[in-house]
Amino acid sequence: MAILPIIIAPDRRLKIKCKPVDTVDDAIATLMTDLLETMYAAPGIGRAAPQVGVAKRVIVIDSAGKDEPPAPVKMANPELISVSEELWIHEEGCLSLPEYYADVERPRHIHMRYLDENNAVQELEADELLATCIQHEIDHLSGTLFVDHISALKRNMILRKLVKSKKQNLTTAAA
Ligand code: NI
Repeated sequence: MAILPIIIAPDRRLKIKCKPVDTVDDAIATLMTDLLETMYAAPGIGRAAPQVGVAKRVIVIDSAGKDEPPAPVKMANPELISVSEELWIHEEGCLSLPEYYADVERPRHIHMRYLDENNAVQELEADELLATCIQHEIDHLSGTLFVDHISALKRNMILRKLVKSKKQNLTTAAA
């Protein structure tokens, strides 16, 4: 098990289309465990493989509240089967865009399918926070970040600030 470094936007590795997993073998199961550990360390409620530089369709989620028991879900090849017309707005954040948040509107209910850590097909219905979290993570697998759902003006402002702080970090590291 390992805590993996998170890639910060803007970065081309966050913008690629990830490849489906053939079979959930030991290597993929280990990736799932590492992603989960990386997520809990952050902390966060979801993580996608491209955020640690792995271009595979793998995500992990745990949207349990602070006072609830952990509810980790490991998914390979997650896909939406159907989504509700009714929408839900939630203020989203992302470890790849640290310290930035924005309201994003997404379907309130989803029905989805994935392969679990034992390579078995599972179906899941989710709503509100869990549904939003799953959609946010699935987006990562095709290079979409939550800021791609907001106005270009706000997105560019956030990305410009991230570029600036990356440059500052490089300067500090070099000093
Ligand atoms: Ni994210």
